[in-house]
Amino acid sequence: MNRVARASWLSAARRFIGLVALPCGVFVPGAAFAAPASAQAGYMLACQGCHLEDGRGFPQRGVPSLNGFVGNFLKVPGGREFLVQVPGAAQSELSDERLADVLNWMLRKFSPAQLPAEFVPYTAAEVGRLRTAPLAEVAPVRARLLQRLDSVTTP
Ligand code: HEC
Repeated sequence: MNRVARASWLSAARRFIGLVALPCGVFVPGAAFAAPASAQAGYMLACQGCHLEDGRGFPQRGVPSLNGFVGNFLKVPGGREFLVQVPGAAQSELSDERLADVLNWMLRKFSPAQLPAEFVPYTAAEVGRLRTAPLAEVAPVRARLLQRLDSVTTP
């Protein structure tokens, strides 16, 4: 997708998310905002518009499915950074802390079987550092990671 198409798609998606997800946030009482619920609410607010409630995305329109897959990135060098630096995550309006919570939640929710046992959850500080360098070109980085993944999973 070229830059212009992406920019207008992003803003259309933001408007859509604003309409659908913001009212949900209003009804969640602050006191009941336990970490997992907050992470899910963050996902609803900032990610679900494109990735959908169950994480299946729109692969035919370039939004990859997170389901049963996204945890694989943590098996290869560079994958941990990648998950924060994809534009949808890095440039979301979530605070560093909230984005870390959402990523940790997303991995456990949509891809528990692929998540390495030694997975160390993202922290706000790590996310804050990584998101200052969002990826301009996602596809080549993703392709390289998938190649590495192939060599990890194919003996
Ligand atoms: C406006 C639509 C949109 C929103 C909102 C969005 N994403 Fe994405 N996401 C995409 C697209 C499109 C891709 C594919 C890479 C690219 O072109 O940026 C992607 C890729 C990803 C990937 C990499 C998955 C893979 O298999 O390569 C992750 C992880 C991810 N997004 C997480 C998030 C998180 C977390 C949020 C919310 C904080 C979010 N995204 C919000 C559209 C979106």
